[in-house]
Amino acid sequence: MMEKVDFGKAQVFSPTPVVLVGCAHRKLGRNVLTIAWTGVDCSDPPVVHVSIRPSRHSHRMIKESGCFTVNIPTRDILRQVDLCGVVSGRDGDKFVRSGLTPLNAEIVEAPLVAECPVNLECRLLQIVQLGVHDMFIGEIVARHADAEVVSNGRVNFGALPLVVYTNGEYWSLGERLEAHGFSSKR
Ligand SMILES: Cc1cc2nc3c(=O)[nH]c(=O)nc-3n(C[C@H](O)[C@H](O)[C@H](O)COP(=O)(O)O)c2cc1C
Repeated sequence: MMEKVDFGKAQVFSPTPVVLVGCAHRKLGRNVLTIAWTGVDCSDPPVVHVSIRPSRHSHRMIKESGCFTVNIPTRDILRQVDLCGVVSGRDGDKFVRSGLTPLNAEIVEAPLVAECPVNLECRLLQIVQLGVHDMFIGEIVARHADAEVVSNGRVNFGALPLVVYTNGEYWSLGERLEAHGFSSKR
């Protein structure tokens, strides 16, 4: 057996998605930030989370507005994705700086990112204080996708040039391997 060693706590599993989170606040305006600590938590009701440090400008915005959007980018806008994760909305409107286009959401008061093919509107359910990150758990109250990426009522994620995050780097995905349940089919 191979020896197992401790590897610290920088990135404990990999890859994670990279998403753009949109938010807005009646006094602070609109904002967008890049998040890699995120995931799906429940199918019904549909629930996702994003983990945000209290030092982020967006932290207060989402806490006080009670909503956010999760926007799934592709590699076509990687430069903008990175930019939204290294500059703060405190220093100016990141939509203007990045050239990303804000779209009005249908239900929540937070911007969607037009350049992202998939957009989720979330109502904040709970904030769980965990340590350096607070986990913002949100129920998806509306979903949007570019018509060209939807077939048979599903987003064809496999056809999208998605970006994942691992050890401080952006990677693309490899090839399709198999389908769910293939191991039990003859
Ligand atoms: C790829 C990437 C992933 C990031 N993931 C997170 C994250 O999961 N949680 C977080 O609090 N900050 C994360 N950040 C940092 C924030 O996006 C960054 O501090 C941003 O400037 C905060 O913007 P704001 O101050 O306008 O809210 C990430 C940055 C990058 C580039």
